Amino acid sequence: MSALAIMSTHATTRIVGAPVPRKEGVDKLTGRALYVDDIEREGMWHGATVRSTIPRGLIRSTTFDHRIDWREFAIVTAADIPGENCIQLIVADQPCLADGKVNHCEEPILLLAHPDKHKLREAVGAVYIEYESLPPIFTIEESERSDVIIWGADNLLKSFLLEKGDVDSAWSRAAHIIEGEYRTGAQEHLYIENQGMIAEYSVDRGITVWGSLQCPYYVVKSLKSVFDLPDEKVRVIQTETGGAFGGKEDFPSNVACHAALLAMKCGHPVKIIYDRIEDLAATTKRHPSRVRHRTALDGDGKLIAIEINLDTNGGAYATLSSTVLSRATLHATGPYLCPNVRVNARSWATNLVPYGAFRGFGAPQAIFAMERHMDEIAAALGIDPVELRRRNFLHQGDTNATEQLMRQPIILDQLLDRALRESDYYARRAQFARENAGCAIKRGMGIAAFYHGSGFTGSGEEYLNSLAGIDATPEGKVRVLVSNTEFGQGTNTILTQVAAEALGLDYQDVTMAAPDTGIVPNSGPTVASRTSMVVGRIIERAGLQLLNLLREHAGLSSSHTREEFFAACDRYRAAKGEVVSLCRYEAPPGIHWDDQTYHGEAYGAYAWALYVAQVAVDTVTYSAEVEEIWAVQEAGRVLHPVLAAGQIEGGIAQAIGFALYEKVVLQDGRMANNQMTNYIMPTAEDVPPIHVYFEQSHFPHGGFGAKGIGELPHDGPAPAILNAIRDATGVSFNAIPLLPEDLYAGLVETQPAEEPVAR
Ligand code: MOS
Repeated sequence: MSALAIMSTHATTRIVGAPVPRKEGVDKLTGRALYVDDIEREGMWHGATVRSTIPRGLIRSTTFDHRIDWREFAIVTAADIPGENCIQLIVADQPCLADGKVNHCEEPILLLAHPDKHKLREAVGAVYIEYESLPPIFTIEESERSDVIIWGADNLLKSFLLEKGDVDSAWSRAAHIIEGEYRTGAQEHLYIENQGMIAEYSVDRGITVWGSLQCPYYVVKSLKSVFDLPDEKVRVIQTETGGAFGGKEDFPSNVACHAALLAMKCGHPVKIIYDRIEDLAATTKRHPSRVRHRTALDGDGKLIAIEINLDTNGGAYATLSSTVLSRATLHATGPYLCPNVRVNARSWATNLVPYGAFRGFGAPQAIFAMERHMDEIAAALGIDPVELRRRNFLHQGDTNATEQLMRQPIILDQLLDRALRESDYYARRAQFARENAGCAIKRGMGIAAFYHGSGFTGSGEEYLNSLAGIDATPEGKVRVLVSNTEFGQGTNTILTQVAAEALGLDYQDVTMAAPDTGIVPNSGPTVASRTSMVVGRIIERAGLQLLNLLREHAGLSSSHTREEFFAACDRYRAAKGEVVSLCRYEAPPGIHWDDQTYHGEAYGAYAWALYVAQVAVDTVTYSAEVEEIWAVQEAGRVLHPVLAAGQIEGGIAQAIGFALYEKVVLQDGRMANNQMTNYIMPTAEDVPPIHVYFEQSHFPHGGFGAKGIGELPHDGPAPAILNAIRDATGVSFNAIPLLPEDLYAGLVETQPAEEPVAR
């Protein structure tokens, strides 16, 4: 059964699959869209944060410089917190404000507000905090050594053990055993809009917060706890949000609580906007990782055992480290069939700013290691890296590392064939092999095969139990009711398409209800590549349910015009009241995930991909340049071709930064290059032509057949690029970011001693 054949039965949609205009595009283009810093509230003050300058220690005293008239300021410390001094996420370990001790540089200690935002910078610098320093730890190695314990009994934030078959007995049967160690660095999200919040507080109405965020109900959870308030006294409204990439998954809860504490203290609305320097230094980043592989293969190059030790640096508090580690664990063995697997995964506490969610959520780290390792295996066995992968691909009916039965068709071979054809892979490799000898610029081709689970895990989606729906207002508008947010990726557009398609209306007939917890139900967080597949499916079902309601109770005919639809809504409203249809998440059949044994259906669906990179390495300047990328993927139905391709292109650009440019330099636990002038990201100059191909399929349990797409493109580029560098130079580089100085060190080391080194 080919994917395209499945697709044809659903090719009759009018709006789904069409490149309709971005729902909020005109407002963004014309400047009408309001970002949080565009918003002024009556009598508003501005807030700022006094942060720790040391990585670990006890707070001995706080002094305020008398040059400042502190009576003009509102000052908030941990003592002002009416509820629990804790940001609520998974483990309740992170204080909202440090109380007596600090565990990382930039940890918030004290908050200031003033009507004039220009008075704040000097004031922050005029609060002197005296510490008694304690010894800090910064690396995975220091944390696992356990000489210094900074968290729990053993510094271990979380661990997972995933086992399939019997790894220990496999080594003796192996024809080949290949080992390798792979490392990835921290990475900053660099959303265009920094973190920002406005909060209002009143004793009667409670707290209202407006801000730049992904997950309104996460923010509600922390505000309720910090202020000890019931649900009805906390309201969170997402303002237009300029990018997020996971960086606004958990961190906005901190900023919201801080702004609200200041608002309570001074009796005015308070706005906190981070500048880039503060945002880079103090907010979450991608978890650094160290992944060790030991792999057994038989004489035919088939995998017989994979053992992986996967460790991440979690930073000072648990935040999302456990779930990031989970996704890393579940993606660690790639899209391959192997009967014996052990993944031992651990996340370690260190005295660094907590690491957090970032597009891919652990998968890019794990997939970098697996796909780089596959090329090392191929080299050791003398097998073509393409062939090695092909021999080991998962197929429909196989089980993956968690023994999830692959029920849906898997078209990895089709994706691989397409990628090889579109990139002219073999011809280019042969050409480069001829040209590289005697040339200072050496070119190579690299590939990466991977899959990415869509949505939360099997149990995670059940736990979220998302509620979403559609209503029709008396003004003749249909609204999509979700707490899922737009931050540039296209939520508004695709959910509008899905609703309009399901209801048989026009795209213009449907609007998005405001992302306001006072209005919309909790349809879960906007993370984990879940919006199109999971929430899209709920909206599709809510649409069909609404039509049934109108057919049953308001005489709507089975093939209606939009006028007939709205007339039926009016009849229904007159007879029965509000026209609304809400649905809850329904798991695809056969999804059973056991969190204890790490066994079962980890995800409702996987998206599959094959990426090819062409890279040129300059052996005089030691710079590596990605010259071209081919990205072939199957992510179910493509709901919007332009937005889908945009997701792939953007993710690849970000992953090129992850591979070759973006290095977080730490000095004594503080980010030393917290400016965009020296934290180097790829610019338009560095992003090559990217060729995006979709092999569409129809996933029956996703919104109009869609699976997840947002994180997938961050997984493949880094290993494909480093594999291409190995192809070009013959030298293996196993750590990213791979900067020119790293290339220099690696290439010089492998030069024969008598040969002069080009400089
Ligand atoms: Mo995302 S990294 O799942 O916000």
